Amino acid sequence: MSKLNQLQGCAITGIGSYVPERVLSNSDLEKLVDTNDEWITTRTGIKERRMAAENEFTSTMAVKASLKALTQAELSPTDLDLIVVATITPDMPFPATACLVQQELGASKAAAFDLEAACSGFIYALEVGRAFISSGVYQNVLIIGAEKLSSIIDWEDRNTCVLFGDGAGAAVLQRRDGARGVLATRLGSDGNKAEILAMPGGGCRQPATVDSVNDRIHFLKMEGKEVYKNAVTAMTAAAKDVMEQSGLSIDDIKCIIPHQANQRIISAIGERLGAKEDQVFVNLQKYGNTSAASVAVALDEALESGKIERGDRILIIAFGAGLTWGATVLEW
Ligand code: COA
Repeated sequence: MSKLNQLQGCAITGIGSYVPERVLSNSDLEKLVDTNDEWITTRTGIKERRMAAENEFTSTMAVKASLKALTQAELSPTDLDLIVVATITPDMPFPATACLVQQELGASKAAAFDLEAACSGFIYALEVGRAFISSGVYQNVLIIGAEKLSSIIDWEDRNTCVLFGDGAGAAVLQRRDGARGVLATRLGSDGNKAEILAMPGGGCRQPATVDSVNDRIHFLKMEGKEVYKNAVTAMTAAAKDVMEQSGLSIDDIKCIIPHQANQRIISAIGERLGAKEDQVFVNLQKYGNTSAASVAVALDEALESGKIERGDRILIIAFGAGLTWGATVLEW
């Protein structure tokens, strides 16, 4: 059996997303740090982002996105075999946020675990779910990318606080004989560059102490320029790889859904792939970078906007801390 045939039989039957109500605009940020709308817009393309309420958590946003995806799939939570939550902002270090989602949904027969691949998390979760389905282990899998990044942002650091937002996206994957679904996927990682994007505190290396809190190591730290360069190179290579694996050229792709981190990164990748501007879906001006939720929220909005129809090929590309990256080609 060819690699392509092995990947068949897994269909995405439902997609859903949720973003919190509260909007934080660039001019709101001008009141917090030394920045301005012009800098943020020209360097990133972001105009505003959503902030979760105090009583909203990664799990509660994940549940809202999941209920939409389950409704679209016409599937009851009790039919789920597995729930995977991709996140870097779990409700707590343990138990897994996926278990909190399982409880809230009433998914009584589902296994549940979290997956941590930062902004590449949704593509990693998609490949994990796809593998369980294609191997015949499970029939119905719920994958979620959800983040309350506002809880790990240093609101005194202008280099990072302007970039991120909160939200959640979910997809229902189901066994469907003959479905094309996921055509090809490439995942990658490079731990040599772990330090360029990290939250150093709170794990077993540097547990929380009075000093660690005073040293602000429980916040996200980033070397922006290094991340930028690695993101463009890795996402371009992964995208080319999955197009080659699936025997498709850029003209065969109806819609490219790149990780929504920075308009300049997205444009650079589009250019290297030879994509036309109208092939590339962008919504980062509204939400900023929502990490694991980013491509899931974008896919949901691209579908709702009517940009994607049955049979269209979609290229999803992501990159994040780890470093991690991934690309996947879907037939919708
Ligand atoms: N407002 C105003 N000025 C800011 C600023 C802000 N919010 N953030 C940084 N600056 C300043 C810097 O302090 C620096 O000033 P200096 O030259 O006096 O030191 C100047 O702007 C230029 O910073 P630089 O880092 O050269 O900007 P850049 O063109 O690389 O853009 C990023 C910065 C963060 C937007 C860009 O590097 C980036 O997008 N990186 C990738 C980030 C990302 O996507 N991360 C998540 C990946 S999953």
